[in-house]
Amino acid sequence: MKYAIISDIHGNFPAMQAVLKDVKEQGISSFIFAGDYCISGPWPDECIDAIRAIPEKHIIRGNEEKYLENLIDKDQSLWKDGQMQVSYWCYRNLSRKNLDYLLALPNRVDLECNGMKIHVAHSSVDFLGTYPFYTWNSVTVANRSRQSDRVPEQILADMSSERDNDPSFQEAVAKLERGIYIFGHSHVQWHYTDKNRGIYLINPGSCGLPLDGIQDSVPYTVTEITDAGEVFTKEQRVPFDKDNYNREVMQTTQYSEANVWSRVILREQATALEHMYFFLDFVEQYAKELGDERRPYALDTWENAFRIWDRKMEATEK
Ligand SMILES: [Fe+2]
Repeated sequence: MKYAIISDIHGNFPAMQAVLKDVKEQGISSFIFAGDYCISGPWPDECIDAIRAIPEKHIIRGNEEKYLENLIDKDQSLWKDGQMQVSYWCYRNLSRKNLDYLLALPNRVDLECNGMKIHVAHSSVDFLGTYPFYTWNSVTVANRSRQSDRVPEQILADMSSERDNDPSFQEAVAKLERGIYIFGHSHVQWHYTDKNRGIYLINPGSCGLPLDGIQDSVPYTVTEITDAGEVFTKEQRVPFDKDNYNREVMQTTQYSEANVWSRVILREQATALEHMYFFLDFVEQYAKELGDERRPYALDTWENAFRIWDRKMEATEK
């Protein structure tokens, strides 16, 4: 039995289509979806329509589905925040049937295949506690790629071996029972195999917004469980034209109505590196200096902070 494992599509329908085509070409028809389907990219409804049309799938909610749930029945005339604009845009552009579908999804799924238990949750925290999520994520990849000349593949290989040899990681893994543990959330593809104990950790990365520094492709992972219960994991990368995608995004109403968020995301798409975390940190400092305590950030604070941050980014990239 083979599963195509896909996570963090984030409204990027062209990337999702490219991945689905690749999965089909490999003759795989069973899917596992690990959450975060909509916010950030301008095609949320198309992504959910496509997911719903897949007959054989196991699917859970991500943390960003909760953002949409929080907006139900709220007074839209009060929606004047800068920071929330992309969630507002997504909420308005997602059909009610698709929103209801997303909100009915479970937070976790547990299944069994050929004697192997498979557990799916959006974050590794569900299985491993806070390690390795807060030390092995897109922020670390971005910091290391700015601080060294190593190519993304080398940075990821360094981080993998550091993680695998870290006593806290081994301690977290030692608490797990035999099985396959699937999660997304960090937007960095990785997997870990302990054949002796039968422990398999799989993060397929982000299909729609990869933040692992690899710019020309989008990831998903294939896991095969043989009749004898053996597990084989293969990380896939599908070629994807980010420049063309970014040009298409700039024609959408999301780009005009949630411009700041869209432009930060385009920078992430173009570099395949984390920017939102650093931008949010910058806005927080900027708001503090202004003495502005409003959260989510007011539109003015949000947009002015972005203008300054964006100029700084342009200057550092020259
Ligand atoms: Fe995500």
